[in-house]
Amino acid sequence: MRPSIIFNLNNNITEYTGDPSNRLLDVLRLVYQLTGTKCGCKEGECGACSVILDGKLVNSCLVAMGSLAGAHVITIEGYATTEAFQVLSDAYKEESAVQCGYCIPGMVLASACLLASCQQPDEAQIRRGIAGNLCRCTGYNSIVRAVSNASKQEQINWIPSTSNLYVPTSLDSAMQTRAYTTCIPYTGGTDLMVEARRDANYLFLNQVPEMREIVEDSKYIRIGAAVTFTELIDHALIPQIVKDACLEIAAPAIRNAGTLGGNIGNGSAKADAALICMLLDAELRLESIRGRRDIMLRDFYRGNKRLDLATDELIVEILIPKRNFDTYYHKKVGARNALAIARTSFAAVIEWKDGRIHHFATAFGAVSEVILRPYEIDALFVGHTKEEAQEMRLKYMTAMYAYIQPIRGRVSEQYRKDVCMNLLSDALDVFLG
Ligand SMILES: Cc1cc2nc3c(=O)[nH]c(=O)nc-3n(C[C@H](O)[C@H](O)[C@H](O)COP(=O)(O)OP(=O)(O)OC[C@H]3O[C@@H](n4cnc5c(N)ncnc54)[C@H](O)[C@@H]3O)c2cc1C
Ligand code: FES
Ligand code: FES
Repeated sequence: MRPSIIFNLNNNITEYTGDPSNRLLDVLRLVYQLTGTKCGCKEGECGACSVILDGKLVNSCLVAMGSLAGAHVITIEGYATTEAFQVLSDAYKEESAVQCGYCIPGMVLASACLLASCQQPDEAQIRRGIAGNLCRCTGYNSIVRAVSNASKQEQINWIPSTSNLYVPTSLDSAMQTRAYTTCIPYTGGTDLMVEARRDANYLFLNQVPEMREIVEDSKYIRIGAAVTFTELIDHALIPQIVKDACLEIAAPAIRNAGTLGGNIGNGSAKADAALICMLLDAELRLESIRGRRDIMLRDFYRGNKRLDLATDELIVEILIPKRNFDTYYHKKVGARNALAIARTSFAAVIEWKDGRIHHFATAFGAVSEVILRPYEIDALFVGHTKEEAQEMRLKYMTAMYAYIQPIRGRVSEQYRKDVCMNLLSDALDVFLG
């Protein structure tokens, strides 16, 4: 069976399963009945078959279907729905620039592409812009005047925004592809490419602006899902505890590509940056064409590699609530320093207010099927002075001992439990003295 070619045709996600060597021109006319695209020479000489491909004018007679995976094709039928078409159509009419009309679809698209790249072209520029489009009956003078008149209209978006389906440059187009195709979200690829799947349709997200930013509002530090570990380490808004955890991930080449969204999206309880996000009670902004859904990270994990993520949803941002994270403890126990996946990892943060514990949180990674965040047990300390907390320490540790039920992996359950309890005890020594 031939692989299918999925592309955007006039804003419809379209699956083509025919011969990849077919001409786009023939497929448009014969398969999709888009007969506004005309056939003249089939040699690239007449321009009658012009379409807009990924924002550029091309001769569809010279485009093989196989080259279109992910591409955005706009034919005259698609262009006719735009405001810019109306301007050009009116201008052509006013100058009586249409006789038989055969060349006009191509001529209009050539005019649009010219005006998109050159705001107020002079006559020579217009003639160069439409040079590949032959007109056998109107004569070019009226067409040139029509394009010149149209160019006087200001603030016209001459070409609708286009982007490759699998390399979307806007969140909207990313969500469209996610909704209408079977694709795998891809940010840095450092997990996915370990098991590079043949024929996988990856949706490359690292050109979606919302996923590339680190910004803040009154409540959150908002980190785009495609922000890399290196970018987190280098950014002034990122709390030191997050930077420290990122610095312990792999080595520079992995940190330059691997992202926070991927670390969370892989659903692993060993994910180091996800552990810190869990500790800091991060939330996720998920988006689909159905709308936005904000969810606590702790509710996102449903089990080993099982996520509360619908097949049309994407992780867009990780929202870290703003609070004082200055006093923290973090330890990753691995087989070696660099490039080690955690055997167990632990992090804790404490916030004091007026001599009392205002906030206290712990999180354990690589222990269970999901990252553990024992909310109720940690809450035991809240509201207490250092002395009171010291007195409660045994009760707290006993509750934790019962709570931590490690799974077996490369190391035994008991080893994991002992490491967790030792790290916890160490953190309490640091925080409570
Ligand atoms: C040699 C090596 C060492 C490593 N060391 C560590 C380490 O020390 N600590 C650690 O935690 N990890 C480590 N990793 C794993 C990996 O680098 C991290 O998990 C990284 O964060 C993955 O991010 P990525 O952008 O590369 O994800 P990708 O590989 O692009 O994606 C990972 C998963 O997330 C999904 N996904 C990505 N973006 C989105 C989105 N926006 N919406 C929905 N789903 C999405 C993908 O579909 C995929 O399932 C290591 C990997 C390698 C190869
Ligand atoms: S039919 Fe394509 S350029 Fe003539
Ligand atoms: S209007 Fe007839 S070929 Fe141009």
